[in-house]
Amino acid sequence: MYRIWPDPDPTPLDDAALTALYEHTGPGIRMNFVTSVDGAVEIEGRSAGLGNPADKLVFGLLRQYPDGLLVGAGTVRVEGYNAVRLDEQRRAWRSARGLDPYPRLIVISRRLDLDPTYKAFTEAPRRPVVLTSRTAPPDRVTALSAVADVLAHGDDQVDLGAAVADLRDRGIGTILSEGGPHLFGSLTAADLVDEVCLTVSPLLAGPGAGRITAGPPSGVRDLALAHVLCADDALLLRYVRP
Ligand SMILES: NC(=O)c1ccc[n+]([C@@H]2O[C@H](COP(=O)([O-])OP(=O)(O)OC[C@H]3O[C@@H](n4cnc5c(N)ncnc54)[C@H](OP(=O)(O)O)[C@@H]3O)[C@@H](O)[C@H]2O)c1
Repeated sequence: MYRIWPDPDPTPLDDAALTALYEHTGPGIRMNFVTSVDGAVEIEGRSAGLGNPADKLVFGLLRQYPDGLLVGAGTVRVEGYNAVRLDEQRRAWRSARGLDPYPRLIVISRRLDLDPTYKAFTEAPRRPVVLTSRTAPPDRVTALSAVADVLAHGDDQVDLGAAVADLRDRGIGTILSEGGPHLFGSLTAADLVDEVCLTVSPLLAGPGAGRITAGPPSGVRDLALAHVLCADDALLLRYVRP
């Protein structure tokens, strides 16, 4: 993997160089997605078919920085999320900066159709957070409260502004979101997206799949390009709030 913008440099980027390029100090929300060249968010229902070694490497690296790892219930259900794990080197990097060794998993869901026996909950190194709304089914709130802190904001959909402020008050200010599209759409609509890391995989997925964003239309927002990396025909783009 090497940098093609800014300051093109054919020297392969090692872990230290990548760590510096993706430093995320927050507070704020960074999104991470992978897409095909023709804009697909999944192949046969999952993101795995879009991935490549460089994307996997950056996917893992991005988990090193945040206080919280935010993901939509749809992605948890489809992708079979495991508990957040970081290797010893990444945990040491965090501890040296006064961070907890692990980010907390934060799952957002209005319906709470989430099994409390998911490994993402039962094997979590830190107690996860579930963000929901005040109309969530009470029996589901009770079931999930056994394995997570359940926080309710908003009457129907989660009031994302209030939820993010609450998380910040709880020490979760720097957030990485791994999607999916409906969560990205609602974060964009609430103007809460500060950064987008996007891998463009050298694939044509063909028609059928959705985009990386979904939901009702909202306003157009500008982004500024922070860097472009290249690896094996894939592009790794980092865009930030201007
Ligand atoms: N290419 C990539 O990088 C990537 C990344 C992630 C996911 N994906 C793909 O995306 C697909 C899943 O798409 P998706 O749109 O269903 O994923 P999603 O955004 O993770 O999940 C949508 C669900 O999250 C909850 N949610 C999101 N925003 C909410 C809000 N503001 N308030 C309350 N609940 C909210 C709702 O859960 P409830 O229904 O439980 O109420 C909603 O149905 C899968 O095929 C997955 O593989 C791809």
